[in-house]
Amino acid sequence: MMKRKVLFASLFLAIAVIGWFAWSAFSVPRQRDMRVFPEAERIDLGNTLVVFYSLGGTTKEIAGRIAEMTCGTLFELETEKSYPASPMLYLSVWREQKSGKLPELKKIPSDYSSFDVVFVGSPVWFYTLSAPIRAFLSQSDFQGKIVVPFSTQGGNFGDFFTCFEKEARSAKIANSMDFSRSTARDISALDEKIAAWLNELRDNLPRKLEI
Ligand SMILES: Cc1cc2nc3c(=O)[nH]c(=O)nc-3n(C[C@H](O)[C@H](O)[C@H](O)COP(=O)(O)O)c2cc1C
Repeated sequence: MMKRKVLFASLFLAIAVIGWFAWSAFSVPRQRDMRVFPEAERIDLGNTLVVFYSLGGTTKEIAGRIAEMTCGTLFELETEKSYPASPMLYLSVWREQKSGKLPELKKIPSDYSSFDVVFVGSPVWFYTLSAPIRAFLSQSDFQGKIVVPFSTQGGNFGDFFTCFEKEARSAKIANSMDFSRSTARDISALDEKIAAWLNELRDNLPRKLEI
């Protein structure tokens, strides 16, 4: 009996320590109170859709910024079952990834025909796509649309973009971008990075449309 108690206590301690390390290594500070993007500086990419999954809010914030800068439409992906809180989160995500099972999503966009550009944003989970974005891609056919993936991560996006290209069916992938902890910390640097990226994308669009 005593042995079992010690075993459980050690297991709990080990999970707590791993969870804490994972959290401090991977978590990104939230951004707040960003300035309203001036109307005159809005970047014209035609009709944009910004689809994203976000567990902790970082990807959501960047997705919101892209939608604001391009006057686009936001679409948040949600899972039917929610993920447990840290530290069990890491174990749960890791097991899901190992099993190859994909989570069920509540809803995905049904039609892309009215959009010129579709942004797809996701956090990096264990050096690759988050499972909800993988689930989204497995159910989507982009019908030749320009798709712009973006990731948010602590510091290492691993094979996120290679995987994305493999799994995004009938998409013309353009100008992907990653946002790491250091950029996300500084609000004006983040804004500058998003604006520079979107401007470059706008300048490349005619070429991309001819692919
Ligand atoms: C389960 C899990 C695994 C993660 N794996 C990585 C990783 O491999 N590389 C990395 O740089 N960040 C990793 N992170 C950190 C997240 O990618 C990062 O904090 C992201 O911005 C979170 O986005 P969100 O707040 O929109 O959910 C991981 C976070 C979680 C929860």
